[in-house]
Amino acid sequence: MAKKVMIMDTILRDAHQSHAATRMRTEQMLPVLDALDEVGYYSLEGWGGATFDTCMRFLNEDPWERLRTLRKHLKKTPIQMLLRGQNLLGYRNYADDLVDKLVEKCFENGIGVIRVFDALNDPRNLEASMKAIRKYGDELHATDPTRGICEAAISYTSGPVYTMEYFVNLAKTYESMGADNICIKDMANLLLPFDAYELVKAMKAALRPETKLHLHTHNTTGTGDMVNLMAIMAGVDIVDTALSPLGNGTSQPATEPLVATLKGTEYDTGIDLEKLIPIAAHFKKVAAELEKEGSLNPKVRQVDVNTLIYQVPGGMLSNLMNQLKKAGKEDKLQEVLAEVPNVRRDCGYPPLVTPSSQIVGTQAVMNVVMGERYKMVTKETRDLFAGKYGRVPMPINEEVAEKVLKGEPRITHRPADDLEPEYEKLKAEVIAKGYYTQEEDVLSYASFPEVAENFFKWRKARDKGVDVDQAKTGVYPV
Ligand code: CO
Repeated sequence: MAKKVMIMDTILRDAHQSHAATRMRTEQMLPVLDALDEVGYYSLEGWGGATFDTCMRFLNEDPWERLRTLRKHLKKTPIQMLLRGQNLLGYRNYADDLVDKLVEKCFENGIGVIRVFDALNDPRNLEASMKAIRKYGDELHATDPTRGICEAAISYTSGPVYTMEYFVNLAKTYESMGADNICIKDMANLLLPFDAYELVKAMKAALRPETKLHLHTHNTTGTGDMVNLMAIMAGVDIVDTALSPLGNGTSQPATEPLVATLKGTEYDTGIDLEKLIPIAAHFKKVAAELEKEGSLNPKVRQVDVNTLIYQVPGGMLSNLMNQLKKAGKEDKLQEVLAEVPNVRRDCGYPPLVTPSSQIVGTQAVMNVVMGERYKMVTKETRDLFAGKYGRVPMPINEEVAEKVLKGEPRITHRPADDLEPEYEKLKAEVIAKGYYTQEEDVLSYASFPEVAENFFKWRKARDKGVDVDQAKTGVYPV
């Protein structure tokens, strides 16, 4: 039986986040949005925490305005976004009322599919956001069946507790919590092709037939195309690719080769390669512009096999090396790499993704450099042991916990249960500062307070006819 494979193109989000520090501007997207809408993608990824931040911080753009512009042109193709569970678009836990409001506004401004994940794979950290996605998504879905979709993502990682059973059980949990799609999110390109085959087979067998399985990987270590192909042969429904000018390397595997590979097979994407040519030509120019302004370093296109060798994500490895360099202990890399699994075991085997990868990595460096384990600990390590990020998959090492926490209390409940409602309070702050123009401003302010305030200041100056360049001085360092 023919099984059409669907594609989400990441060209408007992860592709330029991975290659060019998220610096693509709305005006660089505009010329081809109508053409992108005609391709026949499952969705186009166009929004997330980093695009939100960068819009205001570096590009003088209102991220909400960008979203509305995208939606105006993408009439048929749903816009997909990435949400960090209870951390929303930022880096702290938000109260449930803010989670509800943000999800409502995302759908209202044009999002069709929300991919939501938690770094620790703690389902409790997705409870509030998935509930809100169902609430507002169902309304939208009733008027447009391609929109209002809840996609729960599993942070893929490797390690002794991360068995097939662990991933399948988690997928079933998310499905029972109301996910339409399940995503395997392999942000570090740790997933290997034959493992991808087994994992997809097992998940497809365990999930409901109507639940779509979506795979997200990168091509950092050079295995991305093979991972996608093996997943497709095992029955995955949707894979992520990026148009070739911003594809491969640290970004997603390129779109065109996969479309060509599947053409005429039982997995045909139905996408016409000819339609992609002029769009790719446009993004080739954009990539050149980004390279010229210094946002894109051509090195990101190369294959980096370090992850395959050291079993830690690329970003984490370069962090370790930087920290050792600063401490003048570059010769200690092998010791630190040997310490990483020990620290990870002590704190209950968190997935090695942001932020736990940085927390574990930094602690491993400290343990080695200080010559005594946990003599020095960061606040983040303490919070991880205290349960403030959520539940880790395995029990933590009690002896180490005692040394790290020094009597600080541990929580076992959902971290956001400790938070008071905050939307009205933040709204009052934005109004008092004189920046309020829309409810969305409160959400921008909640996500990145200083960045948003600087942006509001600039916006106010622009709207009042003050010289924009003057208004920018001292506000934007870039
Ligand atoms: Co990614």
